[in-house]
Amino acid sequence: MRENFLWGTATASYQCEGGWDEGGRVPSLWDTYLHNNQLENGNVASDHYHQYKEDIRLMKEGGHKSYRFSLAWPRLIKNLEGEINPEGVQFYHNIIDECLTNGIEPFVTIFHWDLPQYLEDIGGWTSRRVVTAYEELAKLVFSEYGEKVTYWTTFNEPRYYVFSGYKIGNYPPGVNDTQKTIEASFYMMLANAKAIKIYKDMNLKGEIGIVHSYAPIFGVDDSLETKIAMRNADNYFNNWILDTAIKGELPIDMLTRLNDKYDLSFIQTQDLQDMKENTVDFIGLNYYARALIRPYSGGETVLRINNSGSSAKGTSKVVVKNWFEQVWDPNSEFTEWDTEIFPQGLYEGILMAHKKYGIPIYVTENGVADYEDVSVEQVNDEKRIAFLNDHIDAIIRAVEAGADVRGYYIWSTMDLYSWKNGCEKRYGLVAIDWEDNCKRKPKNSYYWYKKVCESNGEMI
Ligand code: NOJ
Repeated sequence: MRENFLWGTATASYQCEGGWDEGGRVPSLWDTYLHNNQLENGNVASDHYHQYKEDIRLMKEGGHKSYRFSLAWPRLIKNLEGEINPEGVQFYHNIIDECLTNGIEPFVTIFHWDLPQYLEDIGGWTSRRVVTAYEELAKLVFSEYGEKVTYWTTFNEPRYYVFSGYKIGNYPPGVNDTQKTIEASFYMMLANAKAIKIYKDMNLKGEIGIVHSYAPIFGVDDSLETKIAMRNADNYFNNWILDTAIKGELPIDMLTRLNDKYDLSFIQTQDLQDMKENTVDFIGLNYYARALIRPYSGGETVLRINNSGSSAKGTSKVVVKNWFEQVWDPNSEFTEWDTEIFPQGLYEGILMAHKKYGIPIYVTENGVADYEDVSVEQVNDEKRIAFLNDHIDAIIRAVEAGADVRGYYIWSTMDLYSWKNGCEKRYGLVAIDWEDNCKRKPKNSYYWYKKVCESNGEMI
């Protein structure tokens, strides 16, 4: 691997910080939604808000070169009038400074889903006003941290956020409306372009990208019908983010399809120009699994996100009417949460992205969830080690085949709050004992990854 390859781990503010009502933080849409529905919440999460020094110490001892984390908008800006919260601003200075003092490169996500409730109240991402609010946030964080932070990403997984929040409705704001899904998607990509412009105009020394929930597309066979379905699926899963962020344009065949059925009059000519002129320096790919595609075979649109028990392996997982179907591969291995384990998808996916776009790639998330008993003295997470080993091996092979991969982040640094799946869906290299003041306990995978980082991948 290249000399300064960024070996790291990743978190997100709402999922790890806790301290939900401390330090002047105002509620996010997740606080409101989870509290109102009496669901497990991130009020405490991994208590990173109080224990971040210990976490960064563990990163350093674990040989990590970089830490990917996000900034909580509700900690930074208190209301629609744009009132800045100095305590929140200071909190991220503390995290960034602690990283730098310990030789760890901060890799910062501006938005990882915790939209302030006051912005949700005016329509959330379906409102153009939120794009302006995001620009104000971008200006604030670039001017505060821009001299210290080299790696920025505007958004984490816009696709997952808008599909879950506006189409499937299992995440806040809990809407099921395709028109709104299209609007929210578009406004996020517009906000991405606007933030890039702000960043470039400030002449800062770093790089800026976006993080995408990448589903490399595979077909069930080589037929023409399958190839057409694969292109449709690629538009649906990947291209509207990647083409827009990297090439500055929405896929035209997708736009045509949407224009036939939905109202796109909210898109202004200037928006398209902003997107065209302001594109990313690199792309962050979160990889958990591929999408296996076959042609549409009938029936209404079905979108499944939580697969457990919901469909027999071998049947369709996602059906988009008249467009494509995503199916299970009955011969594959799956995690406890029915995510396919398919490292080859990462290898081929990186090469597909490299061939198509030719820009630097960071694998910004990759990892495996498990139920684990963390009351034992030493958590032996062998399955995680095997999973990570095979995925890192896939990256090394992709680099050898010519791809420009510059970093790899395991999801997650420590066990954290996994959105609607709560705290028992554990991804961390470090166990969190929720029963004992969120005490940290490195798992076997932590010690294994230390060797990977220190050998720059040689030990794989
Ligand atoms: C994607 C998201 O970025 C993160 O917030 C989530 O918890 C993980 N993947 C695992 O599903």
